[in-house]
Amino acid sequence: MSTAPAAEAARRRTFAIISHPDAGKTTLTENILLAGGAIRAAGAVRARGENRRTRSDWMKIERERGISVSASVMTFDHDGKMFNLLDTPGHEDFSEDTYRTLTAADAAIMVLDAAKGIEPQTLKLFEVCRLRDIPIITFINKMDREAQDPIELLDEIASKLALDPAPLYWPAGSGGRFKGMLDMREGMFIPYAKRTGGAADDEGHPEPVAFAGNSINQFLEDAEKAELEEQAELVGGGYPTFEVQSFLEGHMTPVFFGSALRHFGVKQLLAGIGAYAPSPKAMKAEKNGEPTSVEPGDKEVSGFVFKVQANMDPNHRDRIAMLRLTSGRFTRGMKLKAQNTGKAMSVNAPIMFFASDRELAEDAFAGDVIGIPNHGVLRVGDSLSESGTLRFAGLPNFAPEILRRVRVKDPLKAKHLKKALEGLAEEGVTQLFRPMIGSDFIVGAVGQLQFEVMADRLSNEYQLDVIFENSPFAEARWLVGERAAVEDFVDKHKSAMGQDIDEAPVFLGKSAWEIGYVADKYPKVRFERTKERA
Ligand code: G4P
Repeated sequence: MSTAPAAEAARRRTFAIISHPDAGKTTLTENILLAGGAIRAAGAVRARGENRRTRSDWMKIERERGISVSASVMTFDHDGKMFNLLDTPGHEDFSEDTYRTLTAADAAIMVLDAAKGIEPQTLKLFEVCRLRDIPIITFINKMDREAQDPIELLDEIASKLALDPAPLYWPAGSGGRFKGMLDMREGMFIPYAKRTGGAADDEGHPEPVAFAGNSINQFLEDAEKAELEEQAELVGGGYPTFEVQSFLEGHMTPVFFGSALRHFGVKQLLAGIGAYAPSPKAMKAEKNGEPTSVEPGDKEVSGFVFKVQANMDPNHRDRIAMLRLTSGRFTRGMKLKAQNTGKAMSVNAPIMFFASDRELAEDAFAGDVIGIPNHGVLRVGDSLSESGTLRFAGLPNFAPEILRRVRVKDPLKAKHLKKALEGLAEEGVTQLFRPMIGSDFIVGAVGQLQFEVMADRLSNEYQLDVIFENSPFAEARWLVGERAAVEDFVDKHKSAMGQDIDEAPVFLGKSAWEIGYVADKYPKVRFERTKERA
């Protein structure tokens, strides 16, 4: 096998799954691993997913190091491609990390529950993908249950996401009447065999048959066949034909159908990811302050940290920095330098996340993710390279969705609290805003769990007992625009103004409605939901 960085990068497919809780992300993850030959039996990921929620099951490295890394990335080699599936924590683990993970993905699979369509969390995650120009593949899941009319689902994608849906398959019925799907381009029918639980569940489905031939009659009755034929014609004429370029540019999404639970349609989805999802792209960066482009095939090894996993065991201060590689051939023991500190570190024990049992990386290429154990020196957004001169654009901060006022129980420790909060904000655990008027700190997070992590770390690492109180503010937006316009706005709204840790002005609104209202009155000021960190 080639070890040339360009060729290795070209066969990488680094992607994440975005969905609303319960749409079937965990089930699909598991079935992608099954279809990719990375695991042999169902149940492994699911159990892990659930245990992760209760935070009790640690994988081997976790037990050894006491660090939670499970399922952050799952890597598997299949059909000549190397797939890296990044975990985007959902449910109560939903946090800024979920958004940041998307900055390390080259494509995203959007899973929709066929009965529910686009749900709020899907929409939020989609917006982040759009911001980062990440192409989206759609998987309409749970076809084995009563579904909405697929045409309505496609129309919802078009209207809510302003994305052209291009169905590659078309389902025959749903729920109890689900019979399979037509491969719109090949004219083949992929039959669905209804099974009920147990081992038989894993046996798969009948082989595809030509839709035009006689074999189709064993799967579809005449009326069903006629209906599918008519629908396929309608859909073929009503929706654009799939074009890879348009998909890569973020205008179009190929649509797949299936049932993750019943192992149906997942093989086709995985083949689609292999065929259409992009390999790692060149990345914009600065080298010694000059703009440059880092190609995946460049000789110099480089990458950026998109996530830092803190230790769950308070006796250890170890952290694992997740480094998304952007170029070169990384080999174990290599020295990498952080651009901001200039410090060199030997990466002797990188962790690679093979879905099978290999754990230590021997080499890795652009698109891959390695975990670097360290003692807190690596931060989210850090750029690492052999020369230490490359700097990738900072990872963005996302407008928090929960704001709380934070107070320390012992008033003598107020100064100490400021330092601790700044440290955690620097690290990307939570965001910190200092109102222009008043002395309280406002902390912001995307998910509730971030407050728990914060309270835990303040108590364990800084010996600070804090209280989170309701804040009068519900929304934060960064102000961008001509200096005079921004200053004028700030002057007139001092009681609702704050600064983030980089002293950038932030408008703290009582509601999204209020933000819309002031934004209308001040057209020269932009109220941004994200901020690229310097
Ligand atoms: P999530 O990670 O997106 O939150 O979803 P997850 O995979 O945990 O799936 C949520 C529920 O939906 C689960 O049921 C799961 O079995 C079910 N599910 C997922 N894919 C399909 C599908 O294709 N068809 C059908 N019919 N159901 C599906 P649960 O009852 O909450 O959990 P469990 O009792 O099955 O473990």
